[in-house]
Amino acid sequence: MRCPKCLLCLSALLTLLGLKVYIEWASESKLNKAYPGPRGTPPGPTRASPEPTLPINLSARLGQTSPLPSASWNQQQWRLGALPTGLESTEAGGCRSWGASAAAEIPDFASYPGNLRRFLLSAACRSFPQWLPPGGGGRVSSCSETHVPYLLLAIKSEPGHFAQRQAVRETWGGPTPGIRLLFLLGSPEGVGGPDLGSLVAWESRRHSDLLLWDFIDVPFNRTLKDLMLMAWLGRHCPGVSFILQASDDAFVHTAALLGHLRALPPSRARGLYLGEVFTQAKPLRKPGGPFYVPTSFFEGGYPAYASGGGYVISGSLAPWLLQAAARVVPFPFDDVYTGLCFQALGLLPRTHRGFLTTWPADRSPDPCALRDLLLVRPLGPQDSIRLWKRLLDPELRC
Ligand SMILES: *[C@@H]1O[C@H](CO)[C@@H](O)[C@H](O)[C@H]1NC(C)=O
Ligand SMILES: *[C@@H]1O[C@H](CO)[C@@H](O)[C@H](O)[C@H]1NC(C)=O
Repeated sequence: MRCPKCLLCLSALLTLLGLKVYIEWASESKLNKAYPGPRGTPPGPTRASPEPTLPINLSARLGQTSPLPSASWNQQQWRLGALPTGLESTEAGGCRSWGASAAAEIPDFASYPGNLRRFLLSAACRSFPQWLPPGGGGRVSSCSETHVPYLLLAIKSEPGHFAQRQAVRETWGGPTPGIRLLFLLGSPEGVGGPDLGSLVAWESRRHSDLLLWDFIDVPFNRTLKDLMLMAWLGRHCPGVSFILQASDDAFVHTAALLGHLRALPPSRARGLYLGEVFTQAKPLRKPGGPFYVPTSFFEGGYPAYASGGGYVISGSLAPWLLQAAARVVPFPFDDVYTGLCFQALGLLPRTHRGFLTTWPADRSPDPCALRDLLLVRPLGPQDSIRLWKRLLDPELRC
């Protein structure tokens, strides 16, 4: 051996190299392990500022950069200044004519499922009068007339879901200081379904907690409930601190949720969008399913969004969300659309392990498991009542 020092150097170098590779591998696999779950990927870097902003041109924010896919949504978003603001109108500049011309640009529009066709044709129509019980009564009072709530429980329901609503009132949505409960519904007069108008009118007078609007209550119209709520809040409840938007099959551990919100540092509480966050979800391309999205309608991945089963936002974001929604092309799924609006505002969703929006149907809800959770769904009305009683039971031992 002519150069023993060289050999020593070489082996030291190799050892170092090996060590570096090992450290990188180890830290990467640790990172992956920290966020398990089928759709779990580490959330992106958190931005320093929790303040919403809305740039003049949203293309970059929404990831719409050239080369742009030819799909309808992507093309419309690229060109969109703002959606028409007028009431239902087929005249030029009206919301129905916006829908008709968007549909006319889709070559295979005729092959779309009926509900998607109806959605696209009316999607820009977002201003509907409130539905009030004939004969008066049932008016939902403004917050200033009662108390400005700390947390508003805004529950998306459907006219026929009487039992679900009553279960919420009797359990986690019952009277609690700082909390107000409202249900969001479309018209109970049913198109092609039973006319529930008089029953809902009775319920509305009895409880005064139903916010109803005069549009057809179908899943693809759920975004209307979000937007009408934001508009209602602006006029009747601008000071609310937080809003929980959930479906009526959710079970909320109200005390735990309040505790979590009250403990948030102010900087986090301001731009809050908190729930079970799905990152890197993609449109489903199999025709026939409820979440089918044709490639000629939308290309690309979904933004990170909080599952629509239940999520919390800061009340101060309501006017911002309305402004964003005026400039984000409609999308049929309410929670994905909310995700798009938050993306437009430059705010990231925060995930919390206490939100379980796809509770396995075969697993009976265990009060001990729930003590550490904030929200689970879906739960039927009977299960909710049983679970609530057991949670309150002073004998409960976990
Ligand atoms: C947004 O910017 C892109 C270029 O970055 C431009 O092509 C597009 O027309 C702009 N959209 C609007 C609505 O101004
Ligand atoms: C949503 O409601 C509006 C107004 O009632 C209606 O024109 C539209 O067809 C509904 N959307 C769907 C997908 O049925």
